[in-house]
This record gives sequence, C-alpha cells and structure tokens, in this order.
Amino acid sequence: MRLDRYLCELNIGTRSQVKEFIKKGLVSINGRTIRLADYRIEEQTDQIAFQGKTLTYQKYVYYMLNKPQGVVSATQDNTAGTVTELLAAEGRKDLFPVGRLDKDTEGLLLLTNDGKLAHRLLSPKKHVDKTYLVTISHSLSEEDIRRLEQGVDIGEDRMTLPAKVAVQSERMIHLTIQEGKYHQVKRMLQAVDNQVTALKRIRFGKIILDEELAPGAYRPLTTQEEKELHES
Ligand code: URA
Repeated sequence: MRLDRYLCELNIGTRSQVKEFIKKGLVSINGRTIRLADYRIEEQTDQIAFQGKTLTYQKYVYYMLNKPQGVVSATQDNTAGTVTELLAAEGRKDLFPVGRLDKDTEGLLLLTNDGKLAHRLLSPKKHVDKTYLVTISHSLSEEDIRRLEQGVDIGEDRMTLPAKVAVQSERMIHLTIQEGKYHQVKRMLQAVDNQVTALKRIRFGKIILDEELAPGAYRPLTTQEEKELHES
C-alpha cells in the first residue's frame, strides 16, 4: 500500500495533509525518515511511526451503532441520511452495514469493512439469532405466541423458522428470529393480526446493544465482542 493511503486510512489526516506531513519528515519507516508519499509499505510488517509514535494498522474494523430512526441502512441514499454517514468521523470509506434495519427501526447495527465475515453472518444458512424489542398495537394471546414460535406464513415459499417470544409487558415483547427477510418482524406480527408500532434490535448473535449508546452513537467492538462475532 502507498504510504500516504496508509496514513489516511489510519485517520492521520486528509490525503493532502498526510502528503505535507510526509514531505516535512514527520513519518518514518523502520526507523528511517521517508519523504515520498507514494513509497510502498508492507502494512503488516513495516514499523511506521508518525512524529516518533509507532502506528498500528488494523485491516478490519468492527463497530456497533445504535441506529436512530430516520436513517437508511445503506452506504448511499439520495433522499435520507445513511448509517455510514454517522461514522464519517472514523475516516474509513470502506465501511458498510452488516444487513439492514428499516428506516423506522432503531437499535443494534454492526458496521465493518470485513466483507467475508459479513457475508458469512448474513448467509440464509447461518441462522444467526437476532432479538428485537417490539412494541405492538395490542397484547398477544397464548395462541399468537404459539404460532409465532412455530412459524407463520408471511407470504414466502416457506413458513418462518421457529422464533422465540418473551413477553415484557402488555404491548412489548422480545422476539428472537433466525432469519432476516424484508420487514420480517412486521410481517410476522401482521400474520397474527397485530401491528408493530415501534421496533428496536437489541441483539445480533452474541453481540448485545450497549445501552450506553444513545441513538446515533457508536463504538468499536471490544476484543471480546470481536471474538464472539467471529465465533458466531
Ligand atoms: N424486521 C422488520 O420488520 N424490520 C426491521 O428493520 C428488522 C426486522
């Protein structure tokens, strides 16, 4: 990778700023000052320092975002704000969301630049548990719960896979599903003649939404969470 690109990816500055830093002799590689922006580095093995401080490069990054309502789970949208814009301060242009939440859904969304992992987690064969806090228009009967847990017809080729319902209060449930079909939770509640009035994802696999994060806030996953994600 080019030296200037490497420094940009680490958020040291914009492309023109890092070029200036390199020209000024603020950057060294394996102890030697290098003044060429297009110098080729080996990011895994070279020791690169900026103003005397050694930098560590992370090829793959993982963040949890508490997605607010009104924002689209995409990298680009012509009409609404996107989840990647919320992480713009990270200066990484290669981030994308792992799956989608509806525009009016809030809660846990993972963002990464690790395409392989995202692909694996989203594979229909994978069955990663996702838990939602669902506010509904009226309470569920025992029969509704039994049907949701067995699988309901949402107009797909097959019934939904068995889900788990944990009643929180009259109009609030935790619903855990293994799939991620379009509007799945809303369609499942419709299938039992109910309606979702608010939806928040609180868990993805083993990763639990950090309740310290206000809507719109994000943080990197901890080392433990990253490990759990890879084990999912
Ligand atoms: N199910 C839905 O209906 N919407 C979401 O955003 C996620 C799951």
